[in-house]
Formats: sequence, C-alpha cells, structure tokens
Amino acid sequence: MGLGIFMGIRQDFTLMPAHAHLNLLGFVVMFLSALYYRAFPEAAASRLAPYQAIVSVVGAIAFPIGIACVILGGHQRFGSMVVAGALTVLLGMALFAAIVFRTAGSGRAARFVTFTKS
Ligand code: HEM
Repeated sequence: MGLGIFMGIRQDFTLMPAHAHLNLLGFVVMFLSALYYRAFPEAAASRLAPYQAIVSVVGAIAFPIGIACVILGGHQRFGSMVVAGALTVLLGMALFAAIVFRTAGSGRAARFVTFTKS
C-alpha cells in the first residue's frame, strides 16, 4: 500500500505489477487462507498447514520483489529470480489446494457444506 501511495505521488506506475501482486498475494490470499483455517480447524491442524504458511509467505515476498527487479533491472539479469518466486507461489497454492481437498469432506467442513446446500 505504501508502494501504491508512492506510485500515486510520483505519478509513475512502472511498478504497478509488483504492487498488485504484493497486495493480492500478501493481503488477499493470506487473509482468505487464514479465514479457511479459522472456519475449519482440522485444516489448520494438518501436517501440511505450517509448510503451506511458510512457503506462501516466502512466495508473497519473493515474487513481487522478483517482478520489481525485472522491471527495474531487466529480464536477463533477474529472470530466474521471478521464476523462482512464481514457482514458490505455485507450490504454496498447490499445498493449500491439497489441504482444502483433504479437509473439505471431513468433520466441520462437511457439516458446513451440508448446511449451505440445504
Ligand atoms: C493505500 C492503498 C493503495 C494505494 C494507494 C494503491 C495505489 C495504486 C495505484 C496508483 C495503481 C496504479 C493505477 C493505474 O495505473 O491505473 C494501483 C494498481 C493496482 N492495485 Fe493498488 N493501491 C492500494 C492498495 C491495493 C490493494 C489492497 C490491492 C489488492 C488487494 C491493490 C491491487 C491493485 C491492482 C490489482 C492494481 C492493478 C490495476 C490495473 O491493472 O488497472 N491495491 N494501485
């Protein structure tokens, strides 16, 4: 958000892709996964959950930094950084998807689904 304010003040939107991904991965995705963990404690208690949290936080920081470096410093020098960031984000999402698929049919999650269907 600070970057957004900075871009607005300078009227220079070169770093908009970095700003957008930082906010969406660092705020929206974090908040949505936290809500899921809060709603379904069995998901939060799963063995994968701490790995998902760590990988997602690392990806949410590394990927926007990689995007900013590519924009400012060129694709050839920083291309591998953005690829590493993107793959980290992808791994975090894959872990989260695995957690959701494992827990969506169990316990409280199942009751929630039944409740919303009726
Ligand atoms: C203090 C808060 C924020 C400020 C001052 C700010 C500022 C900006 C600015 C100046 C742009 C460029 C707009 C343009 O060139 O047309 C932008 C784009 C964008 N921002 Fe933010 N932003 C803020 C918060 C957020 C948050 C919380 C999110 C996501 C949850 C977000 C997501 C985006 C996205 C996706 C774009 C790209 C929009 C497009 O492609 O037209 N921003 N923001």
